[in-house]
Amino acid sequence: MLDNALRLQYLQALGIDVWIPKADSVQPPCAMASGLVQALQPPTPAIPVALAAETEATGWDALETAVAGCTRCGLCNTRKHTVFGTGNRQADWLFIGEGPGQHEDEQGKPFVGNAGQLLTEMIRAIGLSRDAVFITNVVKCRPPGNRDPHSDEIASCHPYLQQQINLIQPKIIVALGRIAAQKLLKTDAPLAQLRGKPHYFSGVPLVVVYHPAYLLRTPIDKRKAWQDLQFAVQLHNSQPT
Ligand code: URA
Repeated sequence: MLDNALRLQYLQALGIDVWIPKADSVQPPCAMASGLVQALQPPTPAIPVALAAETEATGWDALETAVAGCTRCGLCNTRKHTVFGTGNRQADWLFIGEGPGQHEDEQGKPFVGNAGQLLTEMIRAIGLSRDAVFITNVVKCRPPGNRDPHSDEIASCHPYLQQQINLIQPKIIVALGRIAAQKLLKTDAPLAQLRGKPHYFSGVPLVVVYHPAYLLRTPIDKRKAWQDLQFAVQLHNSQPT
């Protein structure tokens, strides 16, 4: 874990001029505290039975091989590389974006472009490193021209994500941006309504945070993103060890 001075440096790099808590513990904004209480309630049921069966009994190697050769949707025709995900396979924290962009498609790794750099800083700001968390996307192949992934593409790819969650067993999921959040939570609600409160996906607490690419375009919202990350830390710390 980073000390507060170092975290402050990362926050400054993020362009966030914020109040830093005195103690090591990060306090949630008051408006979010009631959400935290809800988070302690038992999670809503998660994995549809058919999907659980489809993704059962697959280890990391088999899963990675399956993704690398996947032809379940049309994105396989235009991809250069599949982007499986990187990081700690036993991470407490799972970050899920919407889909690979051009750089990710070229390198086969998630979040390696400018948005990836900002994501790295966001992760450091909460005292972690990219190696300590796992990062992936709702689709493992680049949608051409960086369009939003279609629902059928996300559905085709979902068993892979589900199996990653089953294997990692994260304590918290961070949905990066509107598309990932809406698709995971099966809602059309705008991001403003989804952020700042606990959700569940597959029985795991989930928080919604602005996508780093959005934050690059709209730096004024970095402060809200920092609040959301603090909320995520609180939610994570409230989980049983
Ligand atoms: N944006 C995403 O949502 N995912 C990536 O991997 C890169 C950019």
